[in-house]
Amino acid sequence: MSNTPICDFVKEYARKKPLRFHMPGHKGRKILGCEPLDLTEIEGADSLFEASGIIAESERNASALFGCPTFYSTEGSSLCVRAMLYLASTRGRGKTVLAARNVHKSFLYAAALLDFDVRWLYPDDGSYLSNAFSPHSVAAALDGAEEKPCCVFLTSPDYLGGVCDVKEIARVCHERGVLLLVDCAHGAYLRFPAQASVFPTDLGADLVCSSAHKTLPVLTGGAYLHIGNGVKEEFRPRAKDALALFASTSPSYLILQSLDAANARLKTLGSKWAPFCLDLFSVSNRLHAAGYGILAPARFTDGTMTGKTDPEKDLCAADYGKLTVKPKSRGYTGDELAAILEDRAIYPEFHDPDHIVFMTSPLNGKKDLKALERALLSIPCRAPIRESAPPLPRPERVMSVREALFSPSERLPASECRGRVLHDPSVSCPPAVPVLMCGERIDGQAIECFEYYGVKEVAVVREFGIRNL
Ligand SMILES: Cc1ncc(COP(=O)(O)O)c(C=O)c1O
Repeated sequence: MSNTPICDFVKEYARKKPLRFHMPGHKGRKILGCEPLDLTEIEGADSLFEASGIIAESERNASALFGCPTFYSTEGSSLCVRAMLYLASTRGRGKTVLAARNVHKSFLYAAALLDFDVRWLYPDDGSYLSNAFSPHSVAAALDGAEEKPCCVFLTSPDYLGGVCDVKEIARVCHERGVLLLVDCAHGAYLRFPAQASVFPTDLGADLVCSSAHKTLPVLTGGAYLHIGNGVKEEFRPRAKDALALFASTSPSYLILQSLDAANARLKTLGSKWAPFCLDLFSVSNRLHAAGYGILAPARFTDGTMTGKTDPEKDLCAADYGKLTVKPKSRGYTGDELAAILEDRAIYPEFHDPDHIVFMTSPLNGKKDLKALERALLSIPCRAPIRESAPPLPRPERVMSVREALFSPSERLPASECRGRVLHDPSVSCPPAVPVLMCGERIDGQAIECFEYYGVKEVAVVREFGIRNL
């Protein structure tokens, strides 16, 4: 069995300098440089959604790495989120989902397409990006639900590096006959090293997506759909059909090669995360000592790190790849700090008034971490900023996500939309986590949040509604 069957096949094909009388239209002529390696489902290249050859072999390699059935997406976790909700809906147990309020907008689009009724779980700490949901609050929401949800949908890790207690929440769900779906787009690397995995499928989650491209050495678009071992007999046979239902019929072979190559790379890279996270933690400690607030890597009150400090023993869950800084204590908003760093060609993943998030991996290495630390410490301290984020709105639900998204709409300045119903999530990437959900009424608190987070325009449902058009 080859380590990299897709890469091997394409390399051999390109070596022959073939006459290409097939798609794609660039015919292997170099424009970007990668075209000779880009092809389509020619003889021997297998077919992503009917895989039985090199793609199936490569997916078996990925499944072995992740310890559960794992399938490729060349259209990100967005595609997998749709497939996960679809699979949950095929059990015949209704289409109500209890979802964490910090969902990515791909969840809303999936819920709208599949006509799911969404009930929201608000975080215990009140931040719109946070996944601070205790197992107890999930149990209470499930027990108090008017209609029993067919699944719970969580985002873990969240954008700020918070991780849910997936193990306990899975137990709560399974005791009640409910599936646990986890959007682990930011946490593919949580599986490594395997002996200390805190990956959601290893903690009992049933259906999980992870964006290989976000944290592993994979081209943008590469992602995985994972099936928990407890439900593999039920869902493994239908996973490909679920992905195919929403996907392009022309998957990118460049991305497939990248996913394939990652299988080989992760055999060695996987063991580098634990030592790297200790380096990252030391950096975060020095930033903390210099007055920066640090949200991730998370620390215990005694100052030690929660997470994989010891990969042999410590299975405590934490997103140990993100450095999330709260710079107001040093007198800067996250947006101001990002502008200063970007002037020095240092680009964070995300910033808002309260946070600046740096996504790291062993591929950054000590040198990059040192440069980041030096830059942050060189920025002079100012008087702390006291203004904090407005509270998360608890708006009135007027219509379902689907009804709102399928209604005629108009875009208006956010400040003029009090009383109107939100049409689409109206947030861009990153973080693409909506402040308010489609179908909810915009109140004063929501307008305050839009203003605080710089959302200037929103799409609202047109008042005369679809039936009167
Ligand atoms: C939490 C979360 N879920 C899902 C997605 C969608 O992932 P992808 O970009 O791989 O489609 C994102 C993208 O940023 C995300 O942040």
